[in-house]
Amino acid sequence: MEKFFINGGNKLYGKIKVDGAKNSLLPILAAAIMVDGKVKLKNVPRYSDVLGMCKILSELGAEVSWQDDNLIIDASLIEGHAISTSLAGALRSSIFTLGPLLCRHRIAKVAYPGGCEIGLRPIDIHLSGLRSLGTRIVEKNGYIYANGESMEGSDVTLSFPSVGATENLMMAGACSKGITRIFNPAKEPDIVDLQDFLNACGAKVSGSGGNVIYIEGVERLHGCEFEAIPDRIAAGTYLLMCAMCGGEIEIENFLPYHNQALLSKLLESACKIDVKDDRIFISSKGALQSFGEVETAVYPGLPTDLQPQIMALESVSKGYCLIVENLFESRFKHVPELIKMGADIRFRSNVCVIKGKDKLYGAEVNSPDLRGGAALVMAGMKAEGYTTVSGIELIDRGYYKLEEKLSALGASIKRIEE
Ligand code: EPZ
Repeated sequence: MEKFFINGGNKLYGKIKVDGAKNSLLPILAAAIMVDGKVKLKNVPRYSDVLGMCKILSELGAEVSWQDDNLIIDASLIEGHAISTSLAGALRSSIFTLGPLLCRHRIAKVAYPGGCEIGLRPIDIHLSGLRSLGTRIVEKNGYIYANGESMEGSDVTLSFPSVGATENLMMAGACSKGITRIFNPAKEPDIVDLQDFLNACGAKVSGSGGNVIYIEGVERLHGCEFEAIPDRIAAGTYLLMCAMCGGEIEIENFLPYHNQALLSKLLESACKIDVKDDRIFISSKGALQSFGEVETAVYPGLPTDLQPQIMALESVSKGYCLIVENLFESRFKHVPELIKMGADIRFRSNVCVIKGKDKLYGAEVNSPDLRGGAALVMAGMKAEGYTTVSGIELIDRGYYKLEEKLSALGASIKRIEE
């Protein structure tokens, strides 16, 4: 089994480049199902979730190939409309294929999705939205059976601005007859990126990032070349790593307005930050003031995907920090692992109180999920002594060659087989 072996205490210096956004690439890969032609995605990191979506596309009959870091998908001859439990259950983004399959074949049979175990993660908003577009849906034997023969544009209001449901409905509306308007949509940058991708393929989508997404259905989508936005969660993770370990790093391929909420917190806690065009410089003495109070929220609030990493930083910051996790009901599985390393954390339901300690101590810890794993890597990089992080296949879902990137900044981390 692969693990990360980390010797803590090194400060970080040098340059790191942010890869393409996982949570933008995954819905875009699903959207490729609707495209009657070749899609070339440039500079695609081989996140294991990206590879998982490639498997799904291949199973449906699409041609998927790599040319260096470019990913080429040709779904012109795609015939399949069913996704098995083994493939769908491996990741959350398998559910994003519902809209595209309905547009392509007017029929879909998709097993329930998997993904990080951070809550129940229901799909009711996806399904009620698709029903609003005239899709007939039956859930049976662990599968979603969808029939889109009478699918057509309509007004859809989301009960919660779900990222995935917004993306599914954008794709379903893109090739449905008539006009679809999505009210109370998610506003994440990944939503805007999906709009840009769909429009590059000839769709007519507007309003993403705002309160209403407006879609004029078209007959078909043609191929295109596209590059996803930088991964704001990976970028935020690197910022927090430097804030925690100390040192001075330059992060390239960085869009500051995608991380405003985190930047304002870091500036309050005495990190030095300088933003220039598409890069950011951060320097830290590694002993910060606590953030005080942190509440995760939908974009542009503080992202839930940075909550575990912020908690790792707060476990060695001066003072007390209150963290409220508002998005997922079970996203504190990294807490017992951080406590093993000496962190002083108490939690009830979705609220945590962290009392900053002078230091953490190396230990054998296990990644509970993707971002919890990243938090444990951070803690290991700061802790005194050696830390072994297991379950790193979960970290590989959303960080590409993480140990190589961090070693290049001076961290003592390597991937071992045990
Ligand atoms: C996306 O998940 C991301 N994943 C998650 O990133 C991210 O944490 C999340 O959005 C929130 O930003 C991908 O894009 C692949 P949601 P998604 O639907 O779409 C509830 C990571 O670490 N909900 O916005 O599943 C849900 O239970 C991952 O990169 C329903 O109740 O998130 C949650 O409480 C983790 N019914 C809230 O909405 C539904 O039908 C937000 O979920 C859908 C969602």
